[in-house]
Amino acid sequence: MLHLWYWYKRRTRYSFKPVILVTGCSSGIGMAIAEMLYSLRSYRVVATSRRLDSLRERFEEDDRFWIRKLDVRSRADAEKLIQEINDKWGGVNILVNNAGISYRSVVEHMTDEDEAIQMDTNYLGPVRLVRMVLPGMREQGRGKIINISSVSGMLAMPTMASYSASKAAMEGMSEALWYEVRPLGINVSVIQPGFVHSKSFENVVYTKKSLAAKDGEGIYGDYYVNMIPFVARLMRLSTTRPRTLAKLVVRVIRTENPPLWIPATIDAMVFYYLRRFVPRRWLMPFLFWFLPKARKWGRAYTKRRNHK
Ligand SMILES: NC(=O)c1ccc[n+]([C@@H]2O[C@H](COP(=O)([O-])OP(=O)(O)OC[C@H]3O[C@@H](n4cnc5c(N)ncnc54)[C@H](OP(=O)(O)O)[C@@H]3O)[C@@H](O)[C@H]2O)c1
Repeated sequence: MLHLWYWYKRRTRYSFKPVILVTGCSSGIGMAIAEMLYSLRSYRVVATSRRLDSLRERFEEDDRFWIRKLDVRSRADAEKLIQEINDKWGGVNILVNNAGISYRSVVEHMTDEDEAIQMDTNYLGPVRLVRMVLPGMREQGRGKIINISSVSGMLAMPTMASYSASKAAMEGMSEALWYEVRPLGINVSVIQPGFVHSKSFENVVYTKKSLAAKDGEGIYGDYYVNMIPFVARLMRLSTTRPRTLAKLVVRVIRTENPPLWIPATIDAMVFYYLRRFVPRRWLMPFLFWFLPKARKWGRAYTKRRNHK
């Protein structure tokens, strides 16, 4: 009888399939995560995005792999989905906050509305999801929250201020959350990719003013003309593919106690240590020197610099 009981307990323990909710799966890193999880039968997966066509083309839904619409900016979408997962699968065990957008604009070219969209997508939406899945995780006494940040969360670059601010917000929240939920058996990890060889630079968002200036018009024209191809080139040259990031996410999912900070690419690792050990008053002029033609930016528009 006792044998039967142990057999039953072992069987139920090993037949448990953690439920993983991933946001932003229609392309890039999110798609690669969905692809990898699709082949791992030991998890139940909810792959989400605003546009579902690419997901429906790639995957077949079944009783362990769902495709669902989730605009992270929409509270209604999030509430409906979390309710469905709670009702049918008993809650989310692992949340992967991957969805994100990146504005390409200097601070002066953003509007209140642009700032709100950037923060809503990269910070307010993800943190709302965290709040929604935490009660279930607390009840179970375990869970994992994996937030995909960026090197931009630790080091800001010109024309990417709002993006950097949104990732820094996500990192600050994750750090505080780590203390709050660690005693409850819940892990928090922040994955910090540097440049990834993907098409996401084609998905960058321009504001009305940055779009008008991006070909070189006006005071900030030089900034865009140099920064946009510079970032695109660094992404093209990167040897890190979305699949590499997906593998890392799966490794974090499988690790009992993953660390909070996870620099995910070689450049991220370099910046991580530079940021920690080099004082900013030296680091920033050093990085400025590396930006393409930065010493010439805005030269015609200032009275404070030598016009030679
Ligand atoms: N690629 C890089 O070099 C790099 C570097 C550092 C960090 N990251 C971070 O990695 C994550 C993924 O980036 P990626 O390179 O894979 O970019 P991507 O190819 O542009 O994918 C972004 C994903 O986010 C989704 N998304 C955007 N707005 C959304 C919203 N309101 N609600 C739900 N989903 C939304 C997009 O899908 P829909 O448009 O269909 O909704 C898409 O699936 C982002 O958080 C990004 O900041 C990327």
